[in-house]
Amino acid sequence: MTAPTDWYRDFFTGLIVEAQRRIPERTDAEADFLLRTLDSAPNSRILDVPCGNGRLSVALAAKGHRVTGVDFTETILDDARRAAAKRDVPATFERRDMRDLPWPGEFDHAFCFGNSFAYLGEAGDAEFLRAVAGALKPGGRFVLETGLLAESVFFTRKQHAWFPLGDILWLMDTDYDPATGRLTSSYTLIKDGRTESKQAVYRVYTYRELVRLVESAGFTDVKTFGSLAGEPFRLGSPVLWVVGTRT
Ligand SMILES: C[S@@+](CC[C@H](N)C(=O)[O-])C[C@H]1O[C@@H](n2cnc3c(N)ncnc32)[C@H](O)[C@@H]1O
Repeated sequence: MTAPTDWYRDFFTGLIVEAQRRIPERTDAEADFLLRTLDSAPNSRILDVPCGNGRLSVALAAKGHRVTGVDFTETILDDARRAAAKRDVPATFERRDMRDLPWPGEFDHAFCFGNSFAYLGEAGDAEFLRAVAGALKPGGRFVLETGLLAESVFFTRKQHAWFPLGDILWLMDTDYDPATGRLTSSYTLIKDGRTESKQAVYRVYTYRELVRLVESAGFTDVKTFGSLAGEPFRLGSPVLWVVGTRT
């Protein structure tokens, strides 16, 4: 079975959403990294795209920023709205595609975390980066996190893997097509005898390709990190953080 290129439209439903609620997160460490890296003045306007359940939007809003989260999955946005209301913080959430950001030059900073990049194909990923640049004020910073770079994936990812997430068992098979640079992950999730199968297709960029993509979308002074502590990214680092400044 070949996954459609717009697989992400139907992916975030059912057991995948339930399983994602159970994935251990390091939200506090990521929020600290963002605050250090963005070096925001208090009350800055920050865009979290796609925001998922708003875990980082809420954490940054709790530090005194005005955060807008964008995501196209309504059930996940409901979690985000509930979390913001519970903590009574200035985070708002909008349902829209991550390429559709109608706030020209309005945000001080933006970020894309949680392995949410490289879903849209080369043209779509570039369109997303241009949309983020368009929503930022000149000088605004953008932080992109990804665990899907070639320098990471081919060192860390096993072809077959499984892991329990509470009462859900998550099985994963991975297939890479060198001709297209696409990695197809076939997931099977099992809970209480119920089984759900889904496929995701990611474009695996090299470090160099990704930095060029970020630069050509309108960012300059691009810096990279291989850990939340600010260590350099090296061959085999599992995650890359890229920081660009809007020209
Ligand atoms: C793996 S989750 C990560 C969410 C969040 N960034 C975090 O760190 O927790 C990926 C999110 O991307 C959203 N998403 C995927 N494709 C999208 C698109 N084209 N436009 C808007 N949201 C999208 C999904 O609904 C899902 O909530």
